[in-house]
Amino acid sequence: MKAVVYEGTREVGVHDVADAEIEEPTDVVVRLTSSAICGTDLHMYDGRTGAEPGLVIGHEPLGVVERAGDAVSVVKQGDRVVIPTHLFCGLCFNCRRGYTAACLRVRPGSFGAAYGYAGMGAYRGAQAQLLRVPFADANCVRVPGEPLDDLEDDFVLLADAFVTGWHATELARMEAGATVAVFGAGAIGLLAAYSALIRGAAEVYVVDYIHERLDKAGQIGATPVDFSKGDPVEQIREHRRRAGVPIGEEPMDGVSKGIDAVGFQAKDRGDPTRENPTQVISDLARLVDPTGNIAVAGVYAQKDLDPAPDGTADGHIRAPWATLFDKGVSVGFGRTHDRRYTTMLRDLVVAGRARPSAVVTNHGTLEDAPNLFKIFDRRADGIVKAVLRPN
Ligand SMILES: NC(=O)c1ccc[n+]([C@@H]2O[C@H](COP(=O)([O-])OP(=O)(O)OC[C@H]3O[C@@H](n4cnc5c(N)ncnc54)[C@H](O)[C@@H]3O)[C@@H](O)[C@H]2O)c1
Ligand SMILES: [Zn+2]
Ligand SMILES: [Zn+2]
Repeated sequence: MKAVVYEGTREVGVHDVADAEIEEPTDVVVRLTSSAICGTDLHMYDGRTGAEPGLVIGHEPLGVVERAGDAVSVVKQGDRVVIPTHLFCGLCFNCRRGYTAACLRVRPGSFGAAYGYAGMGAYRGAQAQLLRVPFADANCVRVPGEPLDDLEDDFVLLADAFVTGWHATELARMEAGATVAVFGAGAIGLLAAYSALIRGAAEVYVVDYIHERLDKAGQIGATPVDFSKGDPVEQIREHRRRAGVPIGEEPMDGVSKGIDAVGFQAKDRGDPTRENPTQVISDLARLVDPTGNIAVAGVYAQKDLDPAPDGTADGHIRAPWATLFDKGVSVGFGRTHDRRYTTMLRDLVVAGRARPSAVVTNHGTLEDAPNLFKIFDRRADGIVKAVLRPN
């Protein structure tokens, strides 16, 4: 089969690799109709995470079950399924409590695993024609319709981007009427803003400096904030004050919920040609109102081979601890516990209440992956989210 393979820093190629096979009786093999490229793939592509050349990458698959192992009883050959990024057993202590991204059985001696990601277990990636899915009855989420129908791009975003956006609002303890600021207008930030709006946010701001992405934020109903035009914290406070903060509530002219959808490769606002991994947390600490919540959904890597001046190789970055303490802010971190949200978000899509595919800008075959990675890495030519059609 053909697959997208990491070759080295800023190099991916399309290679012939051994077909995915059933290895355990609880596995299925899925023939993929779509597989999306993610900002998380770029952390590896940029040579930051120590990915080994030869790694098949990708973790956002949708397809049709081609073969099922003898012990698979719920999923059948021919089922159209989306598969969550963070694979899980469905039975361990953490899975039973709904914390599937911290599954205790998929990465022995540690917790949590993902397809095609350095340091997240030995699972081959999904930017390929076929994918082996372990613990298939737990991991395959059935979706209706036919391959490549009108909802194909909505369903593929259930593998990661939409669930992560939703998870970010959950980490921020979202409630109706909240004021929300999302930093980062990539697929994750846009879908976090979209989720906040679905969940009844009164105001949603999206901060970035890439015009096409800010335009998308406006299209989904959020207020775009361009950090190249000045301090985004001051811009949002200005906006809130102009709209009228109630008398007596003047110190609450920030937001109640702040979301980091950028991660450790954040740009320094003063000089966006360089990275500053502390930029977003320090902006959020200034912006979030006393008693507010912050969600950190952007990835902070355990191992960074080329840290920025304010970063470190082991992810120990400086954070404004005292401001967060003073304001009594709660901070939630981490990977999305996909299975908590996948079926619920699928049902919103099927009911016509959500169209996450609004963030998809590019399509291609596996052969187009090297070029799509190149333009995505530069966030150039209006690319936000690219979906490959592997077969
Ligand atoms: N928690 C999870 O389970 C999970 C799942 C998927 C992705 N992620 C992570 O979420 C992050 C976003 O993913 P994506 O696919 O949207 O990536 P992306 O790179 O397309 O988007 C990031 C955006 O942040 C913007 N940005 C950079 N510096 C900024 C700053 N200082 N202030 C505001 N915006 C800034 C960039 O211009 C870019 O548009 C990545 O770190 C990714 O690894 C986490
Ligand atoms: Zn992803
Ligand atoms: Zn488990």
